[in-house]
Amino acid sequence: MSGRLTLSWVNKDQALLPDGDGGYEWVERSDPRVTEVHLLHHGDRVGEFVDGLDDNLLIQGDSYHALHSLVRIPEYAKRYRGKVKLVYIDPPFNTGQAFEHYDDALEHSIWLGMMRERLLLIRELLSPDGSVWVHLDDAEAAYCRVLMDEIFGRSNFIATAIWKRRNDPRNTATHISADHDFILCYAKNISFSQFNHLPRTDAMDSAYTNTDNDPRGPWRRGDLAARNYYSKGLYPVTTPSGRVIDGPPSGSYWRVSAEELSRLNAEGRIYWGPNGDSRPYLKRYLTEVKGGRVPSSVWHPEEVGFVRNGKEEVRALVGDVFATPKPERLMHRVLQIATKPGDIVVDCFGGSGTTAAVAHKMGRRWVTVELSAETIAAFTKPRLGKVVAGADAGGITTESEWSGGGGFRVLTVGPSLFERVGSRVLLADWAKGAEFAQAVAAQLGFLYEPDGPFAGLKGRTRLAVVDGTADDVVVQSIVSYLEDNERVMVVAKAVAPGTEQVLRQLSMGSQLLKAPGDLVRRGKVVR
Ligand SMILES: C[S@@+](CC[C@H](N)C(=O)[O-])C[C@H]1O[C@@H](n2cnc3c(N)ncnc32)[C@H](O)[C@@H]1O
Repeated sequence: MSGRLTLSWVNKDQALLPDGDGGYEWVERSDPRVTEVHLLHHGDRVGEFVDGLDDNLLIQGDSYHALHSLVRIPEYAKRYRGKVKLVYIDPPFNTGQAFEHYDDALEHSIWLGMMRERLLLIRELLSPDGSVWVHLDDAEAAYCRVLMDEIFGRSNFIATAIWKRRNDPRNTATHISADHDFILCYAKNISFSQFNHLPRTDAMDSAYTNTDNDPRGPWRRGDLAARNYYSKGLYPVTTPSGRVIDGPPSGSYWRVSAEELSRLNAEGRIYWGPNGDSRPYLKRYLTEVKGGRVPSSVWHPEEVGFVRNGKEEVRALVGDVFATPKPERLMHRVLQIATKPGDIVVDCFGGSGTTAAVAHKMGRRWVTVELSAETIAAFTKPRLGKVVAGADAGGITTESEWSGGGGFRVLTVGPSLFERVGSRVLLADWAKGAEFAQAVAAQLGFLYEPDGPFAGLKGRTRLAVVDGTADDVVVQSIVSYLEDNERVMVVAKAVAPGTEQVLRQLSMGSQLLKAPGDLVRRGKVVR
């Protein structure tokens, strides 16, 4: 017993993998599919582009595979690993209901296992000053908080935001109508995270008036008396009407000395009441108020949207009803607090694409992942297409002054490279030619860069993938292409006897691996 407080659940020592049908299966941590990196296949591009890897990404597939690929495939890792400022997720709540577009009835421990695998990858994606926000309700919020303490460290907990979703309690509730959701917020490292203030509201500004036509503009009364001891803070004052006040209210001190009070008064910065007869107050001017307001943990629907607003926004764009879209103003609030323009925002339970739509309109870069191809086709892709085309007049379009632009790429998580037949691991049928070479590069952490006989590069080591048998003739030919100081890692589907020694003699430090066995073994150490 280490004495550390942890949450336990059935099969916690195992890994949980997507089963390809929208469900999950527990497997041993040593299973090759746990460490396997899936390729991300390029699909359509929508809107305008700068260069391929600078695109915003809409990824169809399971969030575990998608996040794993972003963290492990060098081309993506370079751009996303440790670089993501905000991850917001709105996973299935595990409420035990089956929604129309996805199955929410995961067994409790499966839900925790599913979340753990993804939160571990999310931690790798986050930048040192990044934060993760997890949207839940009472079904799992308490358990997820303990899970997140375990993964991110209890000291990195920032707050639980309460979103009051509706103002009309459900009269059919058995005991108490649950009218709010939780959003758990953790920093990657609380000492580096800095949140933005929210803009001031009209209500806050309306507390400032200008009853005396002060040329400095609207102001409000600030108290000049306080309880803190101040050695020069006890003296009588004479009001403009001529009344003498012995001193500040009993038990308090003037905050400024008599000299300072008379200087402020000469500048017209002291208020003596409407008739010049009250005790003095300091005039605090609206123009001198710095910063906005510190975000509060309770979010009201009048400010950040009602449940129905999310549904209306999606329906107005794609003409169909999505079960659980969040209002754009809710996401606007999260992004306002935790990001700046240009930051990367990730949502790996994308649904109808609210996070991406709002990120796009606010000038943030984004990656969104959604498991269901049907949801992407019916909601996410058409919605985001309208956003980039400037054809979405709803949501936060007006307040963010959005008029269209930018673009995104659609990617699909590729299938597994491995197939299990009994206890044996074989290569999948699709693993041939260039696709096989690309998949091997991804598994072994090589940048995929086809060049002559080579498929990839890592430092001074080249990767050569042989879709057949490696023998001494093949390795001699490969080695003849190496530059001085370069080595090669040859991966082949079959290896003729003695070839490994030939390779070592030709090129010291070069290696020969046989797929799939050696890939599986190396996968376990490449983590
Ligand atoms: C509560 S909804 C998200 C709604 C979203 N915030 C919006 O505003 O539209 C959860 C989504 O996660 C998707 N999902 C469930 N399991 C997933 C997984 N393992 N990987 C990726 N997406 C998943 C579901 O298909 C569903 O669309």
